[in-house]
Amino acid sequence: MGQVHIFDHPLIQHKIALLRGKETQTKDFRELVSEIAMLMCFEVTRNLPLKDVEVETPVGIAQAKMLADKNVCFVPVLRAGLGMVDGVLSLIPTAKVGHIGLYRDPQTLNPVEYYCKLPVDVAERDVIVLDPMLATGGSASAAISFIKQRGARRIRMMNIIAAPPGIEKVVQDHPDVDIYCAAVDPALNDHAYIVPGLGDAGDRLFGTK
Ligand code: PRP
Ligand code: URA
Repeated sequence: MGQVHIFDHPLIQHKIALLRGKETQTKDFRELVSEIAMLMCFEVTRNLPLKDVEVETPVGIAQAKMLADKNVCFVPVLRAGLGMVDGVLSLIPTAKVGHIGLYRDPQTLNPVEYYCKLPVDVAERDVIVLDPMLATGGSASAAISFIKQRGARRIRMMNIIAAPPGIEKVVQDHPDVDIYCAAVDPALNDHAYIVPGLGDAGDRLFGTK
């Protein structure tokens, strides 16, 4: 059964306060998303599989551990998930990166797929889906379904801000997936934006509005 993990680390909370502000401009917004993703990634990867290695130090042989060879695949959900990639790769530079393109149809609010490219060995990896926003959960649930169709079984979801309907949908559709988020906001508005949230994450990251 998947679990919901909510971060309360002071550094993450501080950066989310800055991120939410309507005066925060694209450059700072982008840097904050990347930094928050890096801090979250530290905890999300706590249980990654390790392999035993022998390391020759200047004074002897150490029995040590390193990440297993086929370790992580990060999958940002386009567009906004792209903003989290640099931060997580700074912690695990050997990870592979898949991409899933989805946007919410403004009328139906249903996710529409336009791109999916995952590493061929995705089924052997721990997959971490990246998206700053989990609102209705439609995009996250669809993204996880695509990844499962490619054979992946160990999947985690990493969001910066989530709302209860999104968490409920992912838990219901994918009870095996752990969800990690840094804030849970109370509600969605009539356009399914998270309130208070931070607005449209993609537009704020890429300066498109
Ligand atoms: C945003 C966000 C999520 C989705 C969340 O993307 O990045 O993918 O909405 O909403 P949901 O939980 O209700 O599905 P958006 O559709 O705005 O696309 P964009 O990243 O290309 O702007
Ligand atoms: N997508 C966003 O970018 N923001 C929201 O609040 C909800 C969905």
